[in-house]
Amino acid sequence: MDCTQIIRARRSIRKFQPGAAVPRADVEKMLEAAMMAPSACNTRPWEFFVVEDPAVKQRLQAVHPYASMLSTASLAIVVCGLPDVQADTCPGFWPQDCGAAVENLLLQAAALGYGTCWCGCWPIQERVQAIQEVLDARSVPVALVCVGVPAEEPPAKGSYQSDKVTWIG
Ligand SMILES: Cc1cc2nc3c(=O)[nH]c(=O)nc-3n(C[C@H](O)[C@H](O)[C@H](O)COP(=O)(O)O)c2cc1C
Repeated sequence: MDCTQIIRARRSIRKFQPGAAVPRADVEKMLEAAMMAPSACNTRPWEFFVVEDPAVKQRLQAVHPYASMLSTASLAIVVCGLPDVQADTCPGFWPQDCGAAVENLLLQAAALGYGTCWCGCWPIQERVQAIQEVLDARSVPVALVCVGVPAEEPPAKGSYQSDKVTWIG
C-alpha cells in the first residue's frame, strides 16, 4: 500500500485478536516512524513506553476510562511529552509534536497490517497523573496507543468535506 492507501485504510480498532504476536522489529518500525515526525525547532520532545506485560496493560486499562480495547490488544505504546526539552527554544509546542509522532506511529502500524486505537491522556490531568504512576514516568502521557491484530473492520469515518475548506486565490 502506498501512502494514499494507508491513510485511507487506517481506522481506530477496538477489537483485536487476543494474544496475537507483534514482533519487536515491527514495534521498532512504528517507534522509528513516530520519532521521524516533525517537531518544533527539531526538539523531538517525546519518549515512549512500550507495555507488553499483561499486568501493566491491565493497570493502564483500569485508569483510562475509554481504553477497554486494551484487554485484547497485544501491547500499548504510551507516547509521552517532554515539555522541558523545548522550554528554552520553542516552549509549548510539545503536544502538537507528540500528536504528529502518534499519527506517524498509527500510519506505520497500518502499513504493517496492525490495528491501533489512539486513546487520549493529556490534557486530562487525573488521567495523566494516574498513567504516570503506573509507568513510573515523569514525562507527560499524551496518548496511549493500543496495538494489535485487528478482529474487526469498522467503516471509515473520515471523508473529504468541501465546506471545511476556504480556498484563497
Ligand atoms: C486525541 C484523541 C483522543 C482519542 N481518545 C480515544 C479514547 O480515549 N478511546 C477511544 O476508543 N478512541 C479514542 N480516539 C479515537 C477516535 O474516537 C477516532 O479517531 C474517531 O472516532 C475517528 O475514527 P477513526 O480513527 O476510525 O477514523 C481518540 C482520538 C484522538 C485523536
